[in-house]
Amino acid sequence: MQDTKPTNDVQAQILEAFNSRHATKVFDPTRKISDDEFNTILEAARLSPSSFGFEPWQILVVQSPEKRELFREFSWGANGAFNGTAGQLGTASHFVIFLAHTDATMKHNSEYQQQHMREVKQLPEEVIGFINQAFQKFQEHDFKIEGTQQITEWSARQAYIALGNVMTAAALLGIDSCPIEGFEMDKTIDVLEEHFGVDPTIYKPAVMVALGYRQDEPPFAKTRREMDQIVSWF
Ligand SMILES: Cc1cc2nc3c(=O)[nH]c(=O)nc-3n(C[C@H](O)[C@H](O)[C@H](O)COP(=O)(O)O)c2cc1C
Repeated sequence: MQDTKPTNDVQAQILEAFNSRHATKVFDPTRKISDDEFNTILEAARLSPSSFGFEPWQILVVQSPEKRELFREFSWGANGAFNGTAGQLGTASHFVIFLAHTDATMKHNSEYQQQHMREVKQLPEEVIGFINQAFQKFQEHDFKIEGTQQITEWSARQAYIALGNVMTAAALLGIDSCPIEGFEMDKTIDVLEEHFGVDPTIYKPAVMVALGYRQDEPPFAKTRREMDQIVSWF
């Protein structure tokens, strides 16, 4: 369904990657992504933009088959139950979980933010003071993002930008992926706390992504609304 006609090589590569990317249900379990290419994919996440530059995400790469199995029973979007396969959990070369920071670190003026602005962004104190004020206004007044749930969801929105970049970087490398929201939140939080040492007061799962090489071609051609159905020009 390649509607837009590319006029240069980069356009052609981008369109080819986006058209061939599909939500891969079963990966070829014998094919592994090289360390080198997986590092490039992780760089796409690390270098992703985030609101105020706070990078409110953590990334877990779950390679142990035993650890992946801990999610199987309640991860209906990744366990292959619907098609009688081992699913993405059992076949992906790499399995990634994005965690979103909660209000423990993402409420305005948090210690994490101060340290991040000083040590990572290396901002001068007066700029840090300005950003603290701006971020407080953003949370309390502009977007009205308050309380654990809303702040964690805001963090998850930032994590989804990194997710998108991961999938695009992978597609450009000819690597398949599947984003995954098909899991029970409460049980995932429990497994992450018990078996991965993730403190749920600081991090909550946002989204998962499986990566590898497709076992089969997608059963259906890609479908999307037409451009003029989704874009309005003014
Ligand atoms: C945030 C998000 C969560 C998704 N969760 C799942 C999932 O749990 N399992 C799955 O097989 N596909 C999942 N998908 C894939 C979508 O169903 C798929 O992207 C959509 O139907 C369009 O198909 P395409 O990606 O193959 O073009 C998810 C997609 C997104 C963006």
